[in-house]
Amino acid sequence: MPGPQLDDIQGLILRTYAMPALRVFVLSVRDAAGGRRFLGSLQLATATEWKVKPDYCVNLALTHPGLAALGVGEASLATFPDEFKEGAPARAARIGDTGTSAPDQWIGGLNGPDVHILLFLFAQSEEILTRVSGELRAGYSGAMAELSVHDARGLPGNVAHFGYRDGFAQPTIDGGLSPLIPDPLPKAPTGEFLLGYPSQFNDFQYSVPAPEALGHNGSFVAFRILSQDCHAFEEFLKRAGGEIGKDPEWIAAKLCGRWRNGVPLALAPEDANAPVALEMYNTFDYVPSDAAPDAVDDRKGLRCPIGSHIRRMNPRNSTVAGGSGLKRRIIRRGLPYGPPYDPANPNDGVDRGLLGIFIGASIKDQFEFLMADWGNKGTFAPGLGITRDPIIGDNSAPDAKFLIPMEGRKPAALSLSRFVTTRGGAYAFLPSATALRYLSTLP
Ligand code: HEM
Repeated sequence: MPGPQLDDIQGLILRTYAMPALRVFVLSVRDAAGGRRFLGSLQLATATEWKVKPDYCVNLALTHPGLAALGVGEASLATFPDEFKEGAPARAARIGDTGTSAPDQWIGGLNGPDVHILLFLFAQSEEILTRVSGELRAGYSGAMAELSVHDARGLPGNVAHFGYRDGFAQPTIDGGLSPLIPDPLPKAPTGEFLLGYPSQFNDFQYSVPAPEALGHNGSFVAFRILSQDCHAFEEFLKRAGGEIGKDPEWIAAKLCGRWRNGVPLALAPEDANAPVALEMYNTFDYVPSDAAPDAVDDRKGLRCPIGSHIRRMNPRNSTVAGGSGLKRRIIRRGLPYGPPYDPANPNDGVDRGLLGIFIGASIKDQFEFLMADWGNKGTFAPGLGITRDPIIGDNSAPDAKFLIPMEGRKPAALSLSRFVTTRGGAYAFLPSATALRYLSTLP
């Protein structure tokens, strides 16, 4: 089968833009014909090779009610997967969005029925962001109402809040673009990320929504506004370090699976400053494998805890319930929002966190599976007990624990609280360039 046509695919899916500013417009269609005209006028950023990096990139995603509001007919709407039809608020409880993360707490109209379009604007500077925002608004005003706008900015040193350097691990997609940092894991089949190609499961392909012009080369995105309690996180590191006689940085590394400077524990379990070249930051595994034949057998999690964030989210070749740990890959885009946390002014009352963009051919088998099965259950790998992802899990229960396996003794069991709260979410379809033209010319 021929590979994907890069100029038909939204750039957001296949490319890391590495731009410092992101604005997400949450829009509601008020006039279908005007909305279709706006779609037809959009200069969508595709995955075509760049000769020169552009000043900005615009991408667009549509919810199920959004497709209906633009005039897509019932027969076509019925061919989309159930989780997308139901939408993020209805699916919240199954992925741990309860209590303070429940949809009734969400902001920006994201818990309501009117969320139709997510417009993503990535820009190289503030000036460009402001200028292009104005152009986009001029294009959709009249036809669409702006429910909310969400801004994110890269932080110095490419860190996420909580202080970890981010942006190393991404799946390499068959027929896609080359990874920024070498990735020796098997290539993800095209159909794990784009509709219309063989998937990661044997003899299986995700069904392409009808008609072909609308569904082919599309994908799905889970958009998330994730608020991070940096003060609680830092206090936890200090307290936990004191309890077990370890440096808070060591605790931080065990929670994530990487030191805060990005060095993976699998390569450097005791020293954040061990000499590990950037090109090697993804060349590791938790057991010896083709990807990393020299990997130390860390089945017990003595180097990188089995329950750490990156080992739960991508167990690589570790043994996990239900088969291969390599079939639930996800593309991560997005940027932090809010100013850097200042320990000298810990209770500044400012919300900060991550505008998360999680992409895959199936929200259910990728994003939701990661959140529900690997993030919020301890059953996927032996030795976890009832524990959850220490960074993103729903650790609101008073007995929530994180286990750090220790050589020759019982694991250290640290009491956690919930550090990340969901403030909004949306499930949306990322149409191809062909699909955008199709939508813009609907009668
Ligand atoms: C505020 C919330 C979050 C923070 C602070 C966070 C932080 C991080 C950090 C620091 C890394 C390591 C950098 C890298 O490997 O590139 C990472 C990796 C990763 N995260 Fe998160 N993350 C968050 C939310 C999520 C969510 C919601 C998901 C799941 C849908 C997720 C899935 C992943 C995956 C798949 C990896 C790569 C693991 C690998 O391939 O080794 N993260 N995250």
